[in-house]
Amino acid sequence: MTQNPVFRARAEIDLAALRANVRALRARAPRAALMAVVKSDAYGHGMVPCAKAALAAGAEWLGTATPEEALGLRAAGIGGRVMCWLWTPGGPWREAVEADLDVSVSGMWALREVTRAAEEAGRPARVQLKADTGLGRNGCQPADWAELVAAARAAEEAGTVRVTGLWSHFACADEPGHPSIAAQLAVFKDLVAYAEKEGIEPEVRHIANSPATLTLPESHFDLVRTGIAVYGISPSPELGTSADFGLRPVMTLKASVALVKRVPAGHGVSYGHHYVTGGETTLGLVPVGYADGIPRHASGRGPVLVGGEWRRVAGRVAMDQFVVDLGPEGDSVEEGAEAVLFGPGDRGEPTAQDWAEAADTIAYEIVTRIGARVPRVHLHEGDGTAPGEGPDDQ
Ligand SMILES: Cc1ncc(COP(=O)(O)O)c(C=O)c1O
Repeated sequence: MTQNPVFRARAEIDLAALRANVRALRARAPRAALMAVVKSDAYGHGMVPCAKAALAAGAEWLGTATPEEALGLRAAGIGGRVMCWLWTPGGPWREAVEADLDVSVSGMWALREVTRAAEEAGRPARVQLKADTGLGRNGCQPADWAELVAAARAAEEAGTVRVTGLWSHFACADEPGHPSIAAQLAVFKDLVAYAEKEGIEPEVRHIANSPATLTLPESHFDLVRTGIAVYGISPSPELGTSADFGLRPVMTLKASVALVKRVPAGHGVSYGHHYVTGGETTLGLVPVGYADGIPRHASGRGPVLVGGEWRRVAGRVAMDQFVVDLGPEGDSVEEGAEAVLFGPGDRGEPTAQDWAEAADTIAYEIVTRIGARVPRVHLHEGDGTAPGEGPDDQ
């Protein structure tokens, strides 16, 4: 099949930038190993190529939410340490044990299921005990920790379980100085000390996500679990920009203008006519919509670089398309012209953070929601020979 050089839409994924981000993060946490979190299709960037690039740049671990995602990494031939943490009863425990995944256990039901699977598989499960140190989401409550630790120790004695990790997750690491940060760290240290006193010998203790990796060295322990920062996006503008942390956004979302037309003054634009042309003008049709992950909530606000200038979504974002007002002089833009919704930002284009602000959300949601209909095009795959990556450029 020949490729049409003019595409409807595509997400370019700069794997050289991803590798550089991993190296920058490792430099921030020099005494800890690094887990690249590749859940949710690597935050929308394409799980397998991103996982391979992260490993090539020195990540020692990969992390996913669901066991299916982790098994998908194994199916793609990716070895090494892979951890997954979001389990429901009846999950694929046996497949996980046989695939040598590290599985997270937050409660007695999960320990029972994984122990049974390990017995069936005839080999010990690699289990990481998760503590709820204050997030109030997944994880074992401190009051229930002694029971879980005792049962895990007993399973170790019986040869069905090896406790490889003790871990937790922050609630507010992206809010500098939030009192919960110190409180969670103190609880984590207590719960780890208790488990170790009871005879658990974890390979890794970990609590840091991207914001903690970037700003809280005291939280690094043995392993940091970085997601959004691997993809070059600052976890929170309050902490700093991507550039402040030496990170480069990995995804550039582009579409090709599908139609350019002159319309008279007073012309309604898109469903509901929430935008009406102020004078005779030129409209450009951008062929992506909320089915592609463009937030409808950014109607009237989302920024796009077209013909060298920032334009705003005119009227509503529809399922497959939206319109920009190119202005009275906009005829110079032609069908097929590039519309850049977001990218690293250094070629004049908006960033995912700009879209997050336009849609009252966070940049995490912008990149992870880009739909399956948008092809991911992976650039600088595999070889570490992109500009800046040669042996002399390291
Ligand atoms: C348990 C866990 N660890 C680490 C991460 C990575 O977080 P971030 O993308 O902020 O680095 C996530 C993502 O939400 C997570 O759920």
